Amino acid sequence: MEMNTTTQVTAMPRIGEKAPSFKAVTTQGEINFPEQYAGSWVILFSHPADFTPVCTSEFMTFATLEKQFEEANCKLVGLSVDGLYSHIAWLRTIKEKIEYKGMKEVEVKFPLIEDITMEVAKKYGMIQPGESSTKAVRAVFVIDPKGVVRTILYYPLSLGRNFDELYRIVVALQTADAFSVATPADWRPGDDVIVPPAGSCGVAKDRMEGKEDMKCYDWFFCTKKLPKETVLNTILKK
Ligand code: BEZ
Repeated sequence: MEMNTTTQVTAMPRIGEKAPSFKAVTTQGEINFPEQYAGSWVILFSHPADFTPVCTSEFMTFATLEKQFEEANCKLVGLSVDGLYSHIAWLRTIKEKIEYKGMKEVEVKFPLIEDITMEVAKKYGMIQPGESSTKAVRAVFVIDPKGVVRTILYYPLSLGRNFDELYRIVVALQTADAFSVATPADWRPGDDVIVPPAGSCGVAKDRMEGKEDMKCYDWFFCTKKLPKETVLNTILKK
């Protein structure tokens, strides 16, 4: 079924569903998304425009952190509604001319999608007309190795993202999957994790009587230790 423009603009991926597929031209050649990223985590993110200051600070930061994300089996893919030659010129300028917060000669090696037609941006709800109908907002999609959307963030044009938080999200999702736990507010590797809720009155009673190796604040809220080394040894590629 052909989608009309309004439908496309308002299409929003949802957590727990497959990431919408697309083929695109990028600064690193053509990509087939998310199929060619099967087996890896991937962060697909949009930025409003090339040659703009907030976006430049973000790209320099992300490119500097790319190895850290790679070690957590997470690849990066950027997008804006600019064309390929604009992307190439901007990335060359960043490498050749921009020095910012101790970062210099920064080479952006991850693919940056050209999306002049806004075809991809519209599939991912990146065009939010209340903010801008000609620029993508700062969207972030964390997608798992099976191509399922696991986290979505949208930021306005004026607000640069927090890249510590993006890394924390990738590590926390992988920890939740690997250890069948949840992660509490502001969780970092080494902090206690939340165990699944008691599934019966008997288990709830045992937990409250201290019969299980966990700390219970009440029967529905119990945590256990998960050492930082255990988390990092599981997540980080050797
Ligand atoms: C920026 O990246 O600096 C920017 C882009 C679009 C609108 C406002 C700021």
